[in-house]
Amino acid sequence: MEDWRVAEDVAARLVTEAGRHVRGRVGRPGQIGHKSTPNDLVTEVDREVEVLLTEELQRRFPEHAVVGEEFGGDPKHGLVWYIDPIDGTTNFVHGLRGFTISVGLTQAGVPVAGAVYDPLGDELYSAAQGAGVRRNGVAARVSGSSDLSTGLLATGVPSLDPGRTEALNLIPEVAQVCPNIRNLGSAALHLAYVACGILTGYWQETLRPWDAAAGVLLVREAGGMVTDFDGTPWTAAVGGLVASNGHVHSELLHTLRGGRH
Ligand code: IPD
Ligand code: CA
Ligand code: CA
Repeated sequence: MEDWRVAEDVAARLVTEAGRHVRGRVGRPGQIGHKSTPNDLVTEVDREVEVLLTEELQRRFPEHAVVGEEFGGDPKHGLVWYIDPIDGTTNFVHGLRGFTISVGLTQAGVPVAGAVYDPLGDELYSAAQGAGVRRNGVAARVSGSSDLSTGLLATGVPSLDPGRTEALNLIPEVAQVCPNIRNLGSAALHLAYVACGILTGYWQETLRPWDAAAGVLLVREAGGMVTDFDGTPWTAAVGGLVASNGHVHSELLHTLRGGRH
């Protein structure tokens, strides 16, 4: 097995440096543009950070492919880095904490190393396949909740329809079986919180690999599970995901199925 710790360390350093830059731009996001819909925001800072991260990863790992949310890239190699320069741009634009910088390395679509940094919480999450997960350098673990009635769940609502309407329609079904549901505004942060036992589970219908690659590894290395809505293990080819501490996974999949039919 490869030692993915080197890649983890590079990712951890880069997201922390990028996050400090983003933190300094809260309240000064520069020009704000719209992508696919008026709700899908992009700022100067998203682009600046993606350029910096891409250059550094290409310099450090010239044999790897790099794909970012804002400028794309060709995932032609077996080893592909996925960059989300700001996951939770809407939070960032409004000065709301909960946005993150996320960088994950996949091998044949399976996450093997990565890091997520929350600049306003100053929290760094990182993992390497087979080597566990660290929150600010300390080993982390998923929660021990064994059923949804005692756990806390989160979901995300995409800015695009029809995925947006479907996502909203799932919430009442799940709300019947758990105390409450959160939407913090960053897929990567939700996954980091599942990995650390703060959230019991998280699901979202429509995601891209840069939203999830690093966070999926965090959950798995902390003892949890991440699959698609049918229970197949998540890979970069999967659109939506269901993440949990593992103990509640079947119950969560079952509940979500009820809301999708
Ligand atoms: C978004 C966030 C949000 C999720 C959206 C994503 P972005 O990423 O992860 O939590 O609900 O689907 O697009 O656009 O801020 O990088
Ligand atoms: Ca994102
Ligand atoms: Ca983004």
